[in-house]
Amino acid sequence: MSKIFSAPRGTADILPAEMFLWQDIQDTARQIFANYNYREIQTPVFEETELFTRSMGKTSDVVQKQMLNLQSQKKSDAGDIHVGELSLRPEGTASVVRAYIENGLKQKENISKLFYIGPMFRGERPQKGRLRQFHQIGVEVIGPGANHPYIDAEVIALNVNLLNAFGLKEFELKINTLGSLEDKKNLSKGLRKLLSDKISKLCPDCQNRFERNVFRILDCKNEACCQVVHDLKISDTYLSEESRAYFAQVKEALDGLGIKYLVCHDLVRGLDYYTHTVFEITGFSLGSQDAISAGGRYDNLVSQLGGPEIPAVGFALGIERIILAMGKSREPIIQRPNTYIVSLDEKSFKKGFEILNILRSMDISSDMNFHVSSMKSQMRSADKSGASSVIILGGSELEKQCVSLKDMETGKQEEISIKNNDYSILIDRLRERQ
Ligand code: HAM
Repeated sequence: MSKIFSAPRGTADILPAEMFLWQDIQDTARQIFANYNYREIQTPVFEETELFTRSMGKTSDVVQKQMLNLQSQKKSDAGDIHVGELSLRPEGTASVVRAYIENGLKQKENISKLFYIGPMFRGERPQKGRLRQFHQIGVEVIGPGANHPYIDAEVIALNVNLLNAFGLKEFELKINTLGSLEDKKNLSKGLRKLLSDKISKLCPDCQNRFERNVFRILDCKNEACCQVVHDLKISDTYLSEESRAYFAQVKEALDGLGIKYLVCHDLVRGLDYYTHTVFEITGFSLGSQDAISAGGRYDNLVSQLGGPEIPAVGFALGIERIILAMGKSREPIIQRPNTYIVSLDEKSFKKGFEILNILRSMDISSDMNFHVSSMKSQMRSADKSGASSVIILGGSELEKQCVSLKDMETGKQEEISIKNNDYSILIDRLRERQ
């Protein structure tokens, strides 16, 4: 017996019955992006590993534990593929910033409002809502003109409006500010001070994080660590006046838009590139993997990746988590053809194939039975396909230059002329039923 293969752990097939929902989510997103004047960008699914280590930070969990590196079995002719030098992208921000710099978008526009939809890859331990290949819808606003607090608010509002457009109601928006790079340094110093006598209460991972990257302790899901963090009562005292004023304007703009939020001073996000505004949207029904969407401002990343000093802000949401949050209430929608062709002998089969392709070229979705079998068995296939109309072709139809058209809802059947290969009446009739 030959081996039966399964999809790799942490990946999932998207079957035709679910595809409608996936497309619906993407179509809805594209419509909203058009309303906001954001334009689509696509970048490769793999990049140089260093792009990710430099942007997300060597000590981030994603870089430390979740990178999926490409193992090349041999060097390419150009000699540019080495083991571990390329990685599947764990997120989209670094790639979009790389593309922004490489393609000189700064010279073309003062502000680039970009969005992307595509698969991301993280070598995580799979569980409900946590996959190794998952899909994000993301947004990055980059450019000299991207330094206004109202742009942070626009990006957050866009995120919330996307979720509303998907029909999600049960979610919560949390926001915080990390302040400037200088403020971040003060915060990390302050956190170390607050935590210094509590290190032994932390999980082994967080004990390591204390020196390497103290912010990550605030993201830890371990119960004991959550309790320690909760008791720290982190405040915003480490912020400069400028950073405080900037955040006040972000909140003012959100208030103006009627967007509800909760300020959480312990929200820091797991990636190193953020400064100033950070935010996260969680779904009530999602259990431990409850983040539907997250993002923030990253004013230093473009220059860290070799570009000019240019501000930026963005977010990404996980499509699989959106679908989980939608719950079981949604019915899978099966795509059905409008018309199904049944032909009763070889000669009418050829005519049927001709009609099939004419209908398709007229945007009438159609299919046919490719085996000339009994009328009963072909009608069964027609019924299974869900088509609303069936065209029946046999010797007598060919002789009369017509087709028999059956309405599958009412069961009524009529003859429609196709004399001199004029299909206009047939096409009109089928369109009426679309
Ligand atoms: P992130 O928080 O790492 O941020 O991911 C954003 C969203 O992707 C999460 O809220 C979640 O919905 C989804 N996600 C992440 N990992 C998984 C996984 N293993 N399985 C299923 N879904 C997952 C970023 O990726 C940043 N690049 C967001 C950003 C854009 N910040 C600024 N611009």
